[in-house]
Amino acid sequence: MYGRESNKANWILRTALQVVGKKKSRIPAKGLQWRTIRRRQRTHFACATRYFHMPKTVSAKMRKKLEQAAIKVMKNAHAPYSNFHVGAAILLTNGKVFSGCNVENSSYGLTNCAERTAIFSAVAQLGPKIEIQAVAIANDHGVACSPCGACRQVIYEFGPDALIFFQGAAGPKQAHITELLPEGFRLQ
Ligand code: THU
Repeated sequence: MYGRESNKANWILRTALQVVGKKKSRIPAKGLQWRTIRRRQRTHFACATRYFHMPKTVSAKMRKKLEQAAIKVMKNAHAPYSNFHVGAAILLTNGKVFSGCNVENSSYGLTNCAERTAIFSAVAQLGPKIEIQAVAIANDHGVACSPCGACRQVIYEFGPDALIFFQGAAGPKQAHITELLPEGFRLQ
């Protein structure tokens, strides 16, 4: 698969450097045509980004769209016990957006948070091969509200490189999922 490349790591390094815009002349091709490399680069872009954990950015426009979707769905929350209405919107790497609200229960422990509702809804619609690129969370009290520990682990399952937009103690905040959940669990 890697042809005359010396090894897979070298190939991924050169590809990643190209992706981030370093000059190709500084990255010898070891006998491969640049045309061939570019073709492989396109094919294996996802592989390189995953290897180097390069976060995908989210435009200001998309962030706004996610925040608005979170505010809209928040109004559907079933929260008679806490009276704390939460909405979440997730952006998938395929560009689709899903949203969800918190759904409480008189048996309190059965409550489902907004983030997990959104994620489970996406899985129900598209199957398990989704990848979360970003999550936005809104609440009707205008107070700090970062995802709970359980939701962080569920976000990590489907979005190990996800960006989270939420209300922090000092205002709107964004954080990478691994900042919120260092050493997240993954079944080996
Ligand atoms: N809640 C969420 O839905 N998401 C969060 O990020 C934090 C908390 C919900 C769960 C419960 O219904 C209510 O907020 C109060 O904890």
